[in-house]
Amino acid sequence: MTQSLTIARPDDWHLHLRDGAMLTAVLPETARHFARAIIMPNLVPPVVTAAQAATYRDRILAALPDGMVFEPLMTLYLTEETDPADVAEAHASGLIKAVKLYPAGATTNSASGVADFDKVRGVLEKMAEIGLPLCVHGEVTDADVDIFDREAVFIDRVLDPIRKATPGLRVIMEHITTSDGVDYVKSNDSDLGATITTHHLIINRNHILVGGIKPHYYCLPVAKREEHRLALRAAATSGDARFFLGTDSAPHTDPNKLSACGCAGCFTATNTMPLLAHIFEEDGALDKLEAFASRNGPVFYGLPVNNTTLTLTKSDIATLFPNQITSDDGPVTVFDPGYPIYWTAS
Ligand code: NCD
Ligand code: ZN
Repeated sequence: MTQSLTIARPDDWHLHLRDGAMLTAVLPETARHFARAIIMPNLVPPVVTAAQAATYRDRILAALPDGMVFEPLMTLYLTEETDPADVAEAHASGLIKAVKLYPAGATTNSASGVADFDKVRGVLEKMAEIGLPLCVHGEVTDADVDIFDREAVFIDRVLDPIRKATPGLRVIMEHITTSDGVDYVKSNDSDLGATITTHHLIINRNHILVGGIKPHYYCLPVAKREEHRLALRAAATSGDARFFLGTDSAPHTDPNKLSACGCAGCFTATNTMPLLAHIFEEDGALDKLEAFASRNGPVFYGLPVNNTTLTLTKSDIATLFPNQITSDDGPVTVFDPGYPIYWTAS
């Protein structure tokens, strides 16, 4: 028996493409199914100026294999030195679609992030004025806050004060991992949205730690308790326009993952859409998949929904995804949900 579902082509509202050999290896994995993606700027060094975003965009387009169509939506990495005029110009020219806020030290390559939020007030006010969204990595970095509490504490200590001080600022809480994040988004108006990753709909913290440590399930924000995963599932499958897909597909080579100090990030670009079809079917919500993956994101960003499509097909035979993709930097392991998937995407 086969079953199929055709949806407007999805977009990925939070993606790490890296650069050089890794970019070449991972870009086709996304472009195969997605029309556009918000490209994270946490390169080394980070993408902080409009000029850097323009050259990064050129490198992405140069790495796109012939015959593939894909539009990178560029972002700037917010630092305490970011110039509001440079941001406004990059937005006006159409080059950038968002600015990314990393609290300093919160995650991979975030050393240049913001420590003193008063120093970015001018940029945030300019963004509110011109309607440019702020993508937020929502975790505090204080050593005294438990890693599993860092998202909830960030909402109270940082995010809510920033939003109150900057009326009209459109904010995307990225890769939310808690019911606190879901509740905060729901209790606010349409200026606030949230992305949810594929892997946070599948794993809870037990998957990382029970029966031996699983480095390929380690990402930031770290997966939380089961009750939080269920809250994310309910939000993603609800159709609520404030929640949309941002895979946070974050490739690291296996040697960098399988180490005494392993990197954070799950690589899900290859199988995200089949995994989502499985999840939404399991929750009786296949009719909401298009809203989550293809409609809510563009509406939040004020962009058109794609007029091309993606077809998801279910068969009786489990889909064989590659365990790894290869790159000239080394192998990258593809996220394994731990159960068979019967869906394919084309
Ligand atoms: C991301 C990366 O590797 O760049 N890692 C991750 O665990 N998600 C950074 C990030 O988005 O936090
Ligand atoms: Zn990320």
